[in-house]
Amino acid sequence: MGNILDIKNLTVEYKSSNNDSIVTAIDNVSISIKEGEIYALAGESGCGKSTLAKAITKLVPITSGDIIFNGKSILNQSKNDKNEYPQNVQMVFQNPYSSLNPKMKVGDILKEPLDINTNYSNARKKTIVKEAIDDVGLKESVLDLYPHEFSGGQRQRIAIARAIILNPKFLIADEPVSALDASIQAQIINLFKDLRKHRNLTILFISHDLNVIRYLADRVGVMYFGKLIEENDTLTIFNFPRQDYTKKLLGSSPILKTN
Ligand SMILES: Nc1ncnc2c1ncn2[C@@H]1O[C@H](COP(=O)(O)OP(=O)(O)OP(=O)(O)O)[C@@H](O)[C@H]1O
Ligand SMILES: [Mg+2]
Repeated sequence: MGNILDIKNLTVEYKSSNNDSIVTAIDNVSISIKEGEIYALAGESGCGKSTLAKAITKLVPITSGDIIFNGKSILNQSKNDKNEYPQNVQMVFQNPYSSLNPKMKVGDILKEPLDINTNYSNARKKTIVKEAIDDVGLKESVLDLYPHEFSGGQRQRIAIARAIILNPKFLIADEPVSALDASIQAQIINLFKDLRKHRNLTILFISHDLNVIRYLADRVGVMYFGKLIEENDTLTIFNFPRQDYTKKLLGSSPILKTN
């Protein structure tokens, strides 16, 4: 399979409001992600993981470099590509409490992207919503409830259902299980695995939790102060890390230490 995403020499800088200081959050990073794979980004707080996700979803401007999705640059997209891109690239955030509108019923939360982006009939929208809710392991009865009536894990399932409702090709999950209890984390991780298969998704999975990454990812990129310092398939990076920083990062994972 070919690459679905090519990040080429990407640099993202944040300027302070009075323009007198610059933070280089992403520093000349190149990453290629193959169609269908789960690529994990690891690295400690502040190394630029979320900024990379935001650059891909166009939430922050690119300072230099390029991002190629499905063979086309996301800079200067045609009108058609501009419309389709946000539907093909969706994001799941860390906190399922703040990412769902508390005033809307789950059914309406899931229908909203279809209302905005499609001209489907109501019957078709209903079918799509039902399929999504089924795919994330919830029952149809949840559609009449409000987000506050759910646990954190269930809420994250709802957020994931919303992210897949437009049938995206590419899903970015930024620390999607960090706010959840350990027992629930495993269920959500398995859900990502299932969805990859069932929905032909490619997933960029951001996490500081190396145990989660080891279980889920096909390949891993390690970031350090805005740079991609090491990248390899998951088995190799865990068994034969090359960089001292990667070794240190792996050594700091609590479960690995007791092995
Ligand atoms: N809006 C912003 N304005 C200025 N600097 C920012 C902004 N957002 C992030 N930064 C800085 O950019 C760098 C990268 O931040 P980023 O949020 O991408 O890191 P991260 O790897 O996602 O961290 P975490 O694991 O804590 O989520 C940090 O130094 C951060 O302080
Ligand atoms: Mg982050």
